[in-house]
Amino acid sequence: MNCMQQDIREVLLTEEQLRTKIREIGQQVSKDYDGKDLMLVGILKGSVPFMADLLKEITIPCTMDFMAVSSYGNSSKTSGIVRILKDLDFEIEGKHVLIVEDIIDSGTTLAYLIEYLKGRKPASLEIACLLSKPERRAVEINARYMGFVVPDYFLVGYGLDYAEKYRNLPYIGILKEEVYQ
Ligand code: IMP
Ligand code: MG
Repeated sequence: MNCMQQDIREVLLTEEQLRTKIREIGQQVSKDYDGKDLMLVGILKGSVPFMADLLKEITIPCTMDFMAVSSYGNSSKTSGIVRILKDLDFEIEGKHVLIVEDIIDSGTTLAYLIEYLKGRKPASLEIACLLSKPERRAVEINARYMGFVVPDYFLVGYGLDYAEKYRNLPYIGILKEEVYQ
């Protein structure tokens, strides 16, 4: 057993569960955006594994770009402040933009990003989010594609971090409380 696995209380979503769900989302996106100019916008860094796997399940032409925002610092609770660390490389005017995000927690990050990107006049703006923690929602967010509704535990793996670690776990696990308390 390696040191990362020792910090995991329980595996919440296995690699197989993630793969199956992401395949479904990819097929649905491919249907919904057929014939449209689709651009995936990943939110760094948590969305990277989801983005990589979703991209491969999409069978229509699409482009991709990334933004980096910060709201957390090195703590396990949100600060409520969103800062843009890296903006888009491409224009989105007239494009069908699908934001790819790891998790909706309070909703602060996505609420901010939606308002910010709307100002650039995309043809449409939707969200594909792998996980949602509805218990913690402070701002209402409508994600067109949602992988799994999860309970209010601090989760790591498959892109999700605690203090920038654990992103490389291939599954999503519940972090032991003693690790972050
Ligand atoms: P929100 O703005 O509160 O919705 O927070 C969204 C961001 O918080 C996500 O993109 C994640 O980076 C981070 N986050 C929320 N919950 C967790 C978690 O359980 N583990 C790791 N990161 C989380
Ligand atoms: Mg994060």
